[in-house]
Amino acid sequence: MTQALRIGIAGLGTVGAGVVKILAARGRHLAAVCGREIKLVAVTARDKTKDRGIDLAGVRWEDDPMAVASAGDIDLVIELIGGSEGTARALVEAALKAGKHVATANKALLAHHGTALARLAEAAGVALNYEAAVAGGIPIVKTMREALAGNEIRSVHGILNGTCNYILTEMETTGRDFADVLKDAQALGYAEADPTFDVGGIDAAHKLAILASLAFGTEVDFANVHIEGIDKISATDIAFAAEFGFKVKLLAIAEKGEGGVVQRVHPALVPVGTPLAAVSGVYNAVALDGDRVGHLVLEGRGAGEGPTASAVISDVVDIARGTIVPPFILPAAQLKPPAKPLMDTHKSAFYLRLRAVDRAGSMAAITRALAEASISIERIVQRGGKGDDTGRLPVVFITHETDEGTMARARALLAQHEDVAGTPLVIRIEDGELR
Ligand code: NAP
Ligand code: HSE
Repeated sequence: MTQALRIGIAGLGTVGAGVVKILAARGRHLAAVCGREIKLVAVTARDKTKDRGIDLAGVRWEDDPMAVASAGDIDLVIELIGGSEGTARALVEAALKAGKHVATANKALLAHHGTALARLAEAAGVALNYEAAVAGGIPIVKTMREALAGNEIRSVHGILNGTCNYILTEMETTGRDFADVLKDAQALGYAEADPTFDVGGIDAAHKLAILASLAFGTEVDFANVHIEGIDKISATDIAFAAEFGFKVKLLAIAEKGEGGVVQRVHPALVPVGTPLAAVSGVYNAVALDGDRVGHLVLEGRGAGEGPTASAVISDVVDIARGTIVPPFILPAAQLKPPAKPLMDTHKSAFYLRLRAVDRAGSMAAITRALAEASISIERIVQRGGKGDDTGRLPVVFITHETDEGTMARARALLAQHEDVAGTPLVIRIEDGELR
């Protein structure tokens, strides 16, 4: 057998502990499929005394994470600390510069510094692998890097955040409130260290920026992702959406337009009966449209110990087998600069929910205001009854297709309207590409 692949793991939380468990449980199998032993040499985390439910006998503990990057007896550094800056970034940069392979689950790091890190990896002739960084257990990076090479990718539609999908599903099926369900997602190990990254759409945007680079051969361009989270979605919206035949999902979409690329993350109404509408709980899905393969949907668990560690191990196996490829498919020097962002020109139908004052003529005044703002209405639902504690009644409009600017102006006008309380909620409706 060839010499063992010697590993150092930085970070022993949800994912790191999961990786150690797989190495322990399937070490012999992995050695057989790789043709060499995979040997865990050293680990590091903040607290040496914490009980992590893993056996680290015979494994060196490093108090200083940077020691893992410089150790002469480590070939592959697995970074599972997290965060786009600080220790994780310093560690990955140092490891690549020292000629060590790197595997990471850190989408924040790649979204902000992916192209620069790819240059470092390529200069050193080492791997920078990150299967676990996008969509948890779904092998989407490998699929795009290898299996879809014969295609020009036209669009990527994804449910890329397990925490949000879990929250939206629980709100729909149990009627529990947002904050309560978020606590469950944290306890299950799904959420980021800062869960506002999940519910604010930032984590999904990190992943989308990576997928867009893989899909379109462009540098990773997180700065131009349009980002909205799920924090304003209520159980009322989920119930209204169901009446209209939709599910509410946090979608991440990248698609080519005239001379540019749209990268957007936002809640969306997705028609029941389409593949993405059926994705529930912690599951993620990625729907790709390739010019040769057509529509392709991959679905699987998007977060949590097992699925994420499973993805890290696939990176380890590639490196052990000597499969070293440019991190973003094309050599970093050949990646195109970010294309012009096109969000302003995006068009869709919209779900518009507002709280209307309960008086004769208020509905007529509101629909007149929408017409004056050039918004054409397809459907209206108004709830009767006493209204909320201020006597306002929820009204929902489904609009015909319009552009972002027109909708934003209409929303601002309604926010000032005497018959409307507060700022209306607007959710885009996605259908065409999803069927
Ligand atoms: P986690 O449970 O919070 O674990 C983080 C680990 O890093 C802990 O072991 C912590 O040490 C260690 N750590 C933090 N700061 C450190 C420092 N300055 N020096 C040394 N060690 C440090 O996080 P996680 O959920 O495993 O996530 C790890 C990475 O995987 C993140 O990039 C995350 O975005 C990504 N990811 C997570 C999931 C998921 O489902 N959880 C899925 C996909 C990707 P202590 O344990 O001693 O505190
Ligand atoms: N916090 C992330 C999620 C972990 O919920 O999807 C997986 O990347």
